[in-house]
Amino acid sequence: MGSVTSELGGGPVVRVGVLGCGNVGAPLIELISSQGAAIEARTGLRLEVTRVAVRDIAKHRPAAIDTSLLTTDADGIVNDPDIDLVVELIGGIDPARARIHSSLKAGKPVVTGNKELLAKCGAELFQAAEGAGVDLLFEAAVAGGIPIIRPLRESLVGERITRVMGIVNGTTNYILTRMTEAGASYADALAEAQELGYAEADPTADVEGYDAGAKAAIIASIAFGASVVADDVHHEGISGITEVDIDFAKRMGFVIKLLAVAEQTDVGAICVRVHPAMVPLEHPLAAVRESFNAVFVEGAAVGALMFYGRGAGGSPTASAILGDLIDAALNRHKGSHASVGQLATAVLRPLDEVESAYYLNVEVLDRPGVLAQVAGVFGNHAVSIRSMEQEGLGDEARLIFITHRARGAAVQATLADLRALEAVDRIGSVLRVVNDEA
Ligand SMILES: NC(=O)c1ccc[n+]([C@@H]2O[C@H](COP(=O)([O-])OP(=O)(O)OC[C@H]3O[C@@H](n4cnc5c(N)ncnc54)[C@H](OP(=O)(O)O)[C@@H]3O)[C@@H](O)[C@H]2O)c1
Repeated sequence: MGSVTSELGGGPVVRVGVLGCGNVGAPLIELISSQGAAIEARTGLRLEVTRVAVRDIAKHRPAAIDTSLLTTDADGIVNDPDIDLVVELIGGIDPARARIHSSLKAGKPVVTGNKELLAKCGAELFQAAEGAGVDLLFEAAVAGGIPIIRPLRESLVGERITRVMGIVNGTTNYILTRMTEAGASYADALAEAQELGYAEADPTADVEGYDAGAKAAIIASIAFGASVVADDVHHEGISGITEVDIDFAKRMGFVIKLLAVAEQTDVGAICVRVHPAMVPLEHPLAAVRESFNAVFVEGAAVGALMFYGRGAGGSPTASAILGDLIDAALNRHKGSHASVGQLATAVLRPLDEVESAYYLNVEVLDRPGVLAQVAGVFGNHAVSIRSMEQEGLGDEARLIFITHRARGAAVQATLADLRALEAVDRIGSVLRVVNDEA
């Protein structure tokens, strides 16, 4: 299979070209070196990093990186007949996309952690890998060090997955944890996350749900075998969550989490979305604190499963990349591959048609008859109220409702009619509630 025998007399050598030596690439190269003997003992294969592409050769690198391997010629790596396998850790769409295509075309298996690229062009890349008969593995793209792609693709391949709910963004989970546990405002919790390096200077991709949306698209594609791209995912972020919402959640036995949800309805259509939700304290996802991630999978036969751990960070992500790398090296040695292959066209169910229980926070004038008027609006749209709490605010009152399951369209229509009422001053957060009926 083109592998060479080690000069040191060990097993066959698999020559690895790594594109990128940043947060993930550098610890990956260190891990390959520190774990090399153990990997060889277990698999019989010797992984050898032959060349490493970077943008700036002069940049300072960790001591464990052999700088003589660095090159700015990523194409040279992809086209080098002496390189057996390519790891793409550059990130972004271009030039990562073209380099992955070239590698696959040259018959080289590829391992990547590039969620942005897979959430945009996954179907095209999976097809190219299938056409070339080589692996394209991407465990690290969804939840860093947490194994979720392989379990969905292999262990659960015969399972009818009904829903996957994930806390797949550590930044937002950290912010919500600080708001819940330390009583911090959103702005203070975000500033703290930025100081700790959990949040970027521009946090939009995290706090508005785009990062989680890319991961949700990949999860949905693999769980349901249909092509879902980032643009198919409905996003709501956490920047509108207030201390009032957090306090209410606490008092009522919930915690607010940003969830990436991929759900298959009984008619076969799927709905993929990212939004903050009230999660009951007894639900396993409620215990996922700080910057940890978890993915909760529900299947018709298997029931509920949860995968928990570090969803980002150089070392955990490098661990997932290394697992894929060993798998790809073994497959290559055996002459097999495990690509996703052709994905079906997804039938996407509009959010309007999806049912959920809801939390609504409505500020009204505190005068007789208003409550009945507001309740009447819910009734007009057949949105049934499960519980209601009233809190005085001087001349106003805050009404907090939890509804039974209702269609998204009915809740939107209720909100529109409530806004039109003269007695309604303001509608605050509207959040979905994860409960037994959901
Ligand atoms: N960081 C995480 O926790 C994490 C978690 C899961 C998935 N991922 C994914 O893993 C990938 C890598 O992330 P990262 O955090 O390691 O990124 P990073 O720290 O920004 O590293 C990117 C590396 O790629 C190199 N590079 C950029 N453009 C290049 C080009 N045109 N040619 C050659 N080299 C180029 C950079 O070179 P220089 O060093 O010279 O600048 C750098 O070494 C991304 O797709 C990311 O989404 C990351």
